[in-house]
Amino acid sequence: MMFASFSTPPFILKHHVFTLQRRTFATKISALSLTSKKRHGHKITMVTAYDYPSAMHVARAGIDIVLVGDSVAMVELGHPTTQPMTLEAMLHHCQAVRRGVQQANNNNHNNAEPLLVGDMPFASYEYEDTDIALRNAYRFIQEAGMDAVKLEGGSVARARTARKLVEGGVAVMGHVGLTPQSISVLGGFRAQGRTAIRARAVLDDALRLQDAGCFAVVLECVPSNVAAAITESLEIPTIGIGAGNHTSGQVLVFHDMLGMTSHPHHEQFVPKFCKRYAQLGHIIQEGLQEFKRDVESGAFPNEEYSPYQMKENERRDFEALLAQDQEERETHHLAAAEKYIQTDEYEKLHLYGGDDATETDTKE
Ligand code: KIV
Repeated sequence: MMFASFSTPPFILKHHVFTLQRRTFATKISALSLTSKKRHGHKITMVTAYDYPSAMHVARAGIDIVLVGDSVAMVELGHPTTQPMTLEAMLHHCQAVRRGVQQANNNNHNNAEPLLVGDMPFASYEYEDTDIALRNAYRFIQEAGMDAVKLEGGSVARARTARKLVEGGVAVMGHVGLTPQSISVLGGFRAQGRTAIRARAVLDDALRLQDAGCFAVVLECVPSNVAAAITESLEIPTIGIGAGNHTSGQVLVFHDMLGMTSHPHHEQFVPKFCKRYAQLGHIIQEGLQEFKRDVESGAFPNEEYSPYQMKENERRDFEALLAQDQEERETHHLAAAEKYIQTDEYEKLHLYGGDDATETDTKE
């Protein structure tokens, strides 16, 4: 949270110098401030976050918008598309992100608090009855602490839904070009607007969303010149992903840009447009393998990581207590050990001699 401060000049009154108390207030990125950024030619940054730690990182970095994207379905939950993501699951992720952003801003007052956008998932806003979309959008605001929601698509019907939400008091971000929730209709994750007619259609979608009151629109996987023309035609900012450099801002998926992806589908299709700013997957693997080596060799935990000590008199009393029933405990220990050795032998039969064991069992 950035505090704009008025450091007031000292006032000289008779022989006293007064400094009025420094007044501070927190700044927050708002939907309106993004339009102003566009007008002043300042680029907008947006990154996805799905949980408490990723949200803390994104907020700490001073990113303008944190998008709780339904890409969570693919990069965190291992689904092949975003379609399985449910409203309840999205809200759960949004709540964690809200807490992460709050925590980051409590600890760091240098950044403006980012705008929080929650992705409305597939099947939560497409119905002709726009009341359903409005009811679901309110849940993002009231239950998950989001500042705005995002919808995919720019058809006449979708624009009607966007208008309904805006009139209901919900700030809406649009999303045109590649709209992954419609993958079954689009026939795959592929670039959009590559012919003149289709490019014009993407522009029309974006214009409809602006007319409906959206405060910004994501342009996903469209040629750079198409994104430039859309950005030029709109008053509201465009946030590009795979749409070249002529948009008002850029968004990337946290896991993709930081090299964390482990989902086979995603690994296979790491988008061509995604620059990797870190190789966290490699660092994570190194850390985990080092932990395994350290535990197996006994190097971890050493004295340094064994911080809890007993006072000397407590230690002596404890040893005395142990000595009192040592014999009973040894007997119990031997009986337990015998039982576990038998279980171990039985397991070995199944693991290494499974077929024989089954045959013998059957014969008996
Ligand atoms: O879900 C998501 O991450 C998105 C971005 C790609 C814009 O919608």
